Amino acid sequence: MKNVGLITGASSGIGMELAKIHASKGRDLILVARRVDELMKLKIELEASFKIHVEVIPMDLMKENAADSLFQLVKEKNIQVDYLFNNAGLGGYGKFHERDLKKEREMIQLNVIALTELTHLFLPEMIQRKSGKILNTASTAGFMPGPMQTVYFATKAFVVSFTQGVAQEVCNDGVTLTALCPGPVQTEFEKAAGMEGSGLFKSAVSAESTALKGYNAMEKGKLIAISDSTLKFALNWILPFAPRKMVLKMVQNLQTIK
Ligand SMILES: NC(=O)c1ccc[n+]([C@@H]2O[C@H](COP(=O)([O-])OP(=O)(O)OC[C@H]3O[C@@H](n4cnc5c(N)ncnc54)[C@H](OP(=O)(O)O)[C@@H]3O)[C@@H](O)[C@H]2O)c1
Repeated sequence: MKNVGLITGASSGIGMELAKIHASKGRDLILVARRVDELMKLKIELEASFKIHVEVIPMDLMKENAADSLFQLVKEKNIQVDYLFNNAGLGGYGKFHERDLKKEREMIQLNVIALTELTHLFLPEMIQRKSGKILNTASTAGFMPGPMQTVYFATKAFVVSFTQGVAQEVCNDGVTLTALCPGPVQTEFEKAAGMEGSGLFKSAVSAESTALKGYNAMEKGKLIAISDSTLKFALNWILPFAPRKMVLKMVQNLQTIK
C-alpha cells in the first residue's frame, strides 16, 4: 500500500468525505469506525472508483487500549501510515451535573485519549522517515467554553491546544499537524449528541466542503483550519474582546433546545 491515510470515524460525515478526497488522489486507505457495513460499502465504492487499496478495521475507540489494538493490527498488516486523520468524535447535550458520567468518560476517551494515543503511536515513525501528516478534527467549540455541551467543548479545546503544541515540537522533523475546526456541519453528529431541535445546526454546512478545507490545510501544513469563514472572523476578531459572561450566555442560548 502507498500514501496510506488512516481515518478514524470514516463510516459517516466528515471522515467519510476525507476518505473520498484521499482516495481521489490515488492514495490508499485504512478506514476505522464501529459500523463495519458502512466501512465495507465505502471500501467497495472507493476501490472501484479510484483503483486504490482500502483496508477496513472495525474498532470501538471508546474502549480502553483500543488505540494500541489498532496500532498492532496495522503493524501485523505491515502497513506504513503516512497520513493520520484523528477524526472520530462525538458530542453530548445537557447540563454537566445532570448528564451520565459514564457518557462523559466515554466522550473523553474517544475525543481526547484515543486521539492522543494514536498520535503518540504513529508520530515516532513519521519523524524517523522525516515525513508524515496528521489532521485532527477539532471544532470551533475548541475556542470557547460551551454550556450545555461543556465536556464536548473542553475536549475540543484540548485538541486545538494539543495539535499546536506537538506541531511546534516536530516542526523541524518533516511532520506537520493541523487542527480542523468546523462550525456546525450536516452530519450524524447532531443526532448522536442528542441535539436535534437546537438552533445551532440551522446554518450547518456540508461535510464535503468542510473535509476539503481540512484536507487542503493539512496538505499545506497549516496549524489551524477554521472551515467556516464567518465564524473565523468572529473567533479571531470578536470573541477575544467580548465580555466572557456575555459569550457564555450566548453559547448557552444557541445550544439550548427550546
Ligand atoms: N458535525 C458538526 O457539526 C461538527 C462540528 C465540529 C466538529 N465536528 C467533529 O467532526 C468529527 C466527525 O464528526 P461528524 O460531524 O462527521 O459526525 P458523524 O457523522 O456522527 O461521524 C462520527 C464518526 O465517528 C465515529 N465514531 C463514533 N464513536 C466511535 C467509537 N466509539 N469508535 C470509533 N469510531 C466512532 C462514527 O462511526 P461509528 O458510529 O460507525 O463508530 C462516525 O464515523 C468529530 O470529531 C466531531 O466532534 C463535528
